[in-house]
Amino acid sequence: MPDNPQNVTSIIAAPPSAGAKKTFYLETFGCQMNVHDSEKVIGTLLRQGYRQVETVEEADLVFYNTCSIRDKAEQKVFNRLNDYKKFQKQGKKFAVLGCVAQQEGEKIFEKAPYVSLVAGSASYNNLPQMLVQLEAGNTRITGLDDRQTDLTFETEFTARTNPHRGYITIIEGCDKFCAYCVVPYTRGKERSRTSDSVLAEARKMADLGYTDIQLLGQNVNAFADPLGKKTFAELLYAVGELPGIRRVRFTTSHPRHFSRDIIEAIDALPTLCDHVHLPVQSGSSRVLNAMHREYTREMYLEKVSWIKASKRQIALTTDLIVGFPGETPADFEETITLMHECQFDAVFGFKYSPRPNTPAITMEDSIPDEEKARRLQILLDRQREIQRVNYEKQVGKIFEVMVEGFNEARGQVNGRTSQNVTLNFTALPQHTPSIGSYVTARVIKSFPNSLVGEMVVQG
Ligand code: SAH
Ligand code: SF4
Ligand code: F3S
Repeated sequence: MPDNPQNVTSIIAAPPSAGAKKTFYLETFGCQMNVHDSEKVIGTLLRQGYRQVETVEEADLVFYNTCSIRDKAEQKVFNRLNDYKKFQKQGKKFAVLGCVAQQEGEKIFEKAPYVSLVAGSASYNNLPQMLVQLEAGNTRITGLDDRQTDLTFETEFTARTNPHRGYITIIEGCDKFCAYCVVPYTRGKERSRTSDSVLAEARKMADLGYTDIQLLGQNVNAFADPLGKKTFAELLYAVGELPGIRRVRFTTSHPRHFSRDIIEAIDALPTLCDHVHLPVQSGSSRVLNAMHREYTREMYLEKVSWIKASKRQIALTTDLIVGFPGETPADFEETITLMHECQFDAVFGFKYSPRPNTPAITMEDSIPDEEKARRLQILLDRQREIQRVNYEKQVGKIFEVMVEGFNEARGQVNGRTSQNVTLNFTALPQHTPSIGSYVTARVIKSFPNSLVGEMVVQG
């Protein structure tokens, strides 16, 4: 199964730059874009002579790269800040980055007076200057975006931790203003990198031995090359054709920008992964309209029909929100029927969470939490059943897997298919594959969220 895009990750860059005295700890909340921003922030800090440590206790400087997509994500950040209040006396400095920083701005200094730096993602290019101010003892440093910037956060000092798979952000920000969503307010306006710059980074990664590249954007397929050289589908081809690259993924696609040439590219080029994450949010056109998604159920289904018509077995995953203001039982039922029609390979379901600044905050949050929870449970139960049946059909099939790790206790190798499905398998005798290598495995058993198999000889 794909990773939950909203998971919490802690990145430790290794090895730390030897001899550096000033230490930092960084913890990341939120989506892949935040995770990748953290890799760039870490790279920038290492470049500035800091050394990364694994605990808050060891650190002089503590960074939180935060997420505010739902109330729970935001609360987690404030709880964490509260937990660490006690360290203030030890002279540690705290910095809040990311979406909560951008959303709350200087109010964070009131809520957590021991925080010295508050910066949103559009200001990370200025981190070196902000660090100088921090060193000078300034305790009220801000880097906040007014949605005017055209800057993207490009740095050659990205500290990637996985030597085989890496992210590249190709487009930042969002101009869609869906009624429920904070992202347009926390990440600034939509701005793409040039295809030349993306390709240069991808080429460099391929030279370093990376084989798996994931292109990132809040709406990755809204990519618009500022120099007009390549469309999104052409960029996919160009990255997928780079020598050494075996897998290219991209996330998150917005249905409004999902064009047929993307599927044509996947059909034509084996290195483009058999996976599309296409968040639909609701199966009811009425709710989609209230959400300002600018597509209907029918329009979404048409795009899904292109994916299903592909020569390849393309996995389709989605995000769904239950309990949006005014969602009736009939609207919810339409979401359930859409799930059955689309036969999603995975669904990330969320209870609607009212968010500051968003248009929906003025609508009555009309569905009680217990009802949202009930709908979410129905949705997840149905999806589990859909996946159970579909995963069973994979038994007997052979897939290429990228090796990700080992489960010693079970004697299994952990891998991932092009469809982004976890396939745990037993290796051939005397042939334990190395992490990052590609092998083939036959599926012998299925679970609703993963497959079990045995390695087979290629060819
Ligand atoms: N740009 C992507 C989504 C990015 S946010 C798109 O438009 O599809 C990731 C997911 O979080 C969304 O797809 C949505 O399902 C969920 N989400 C965003 N705001 C939310 C809110 N206020 N309440 C509940 N879920 C939300
Ligand atoms: Fe949020 Fe909508 Fe933008 Fe996605 S497209 S990030 S849901 S505003
Ligand atoms: Fe969260 Fe910001 Fe990503 S709100 S989901 S970290 S864009």
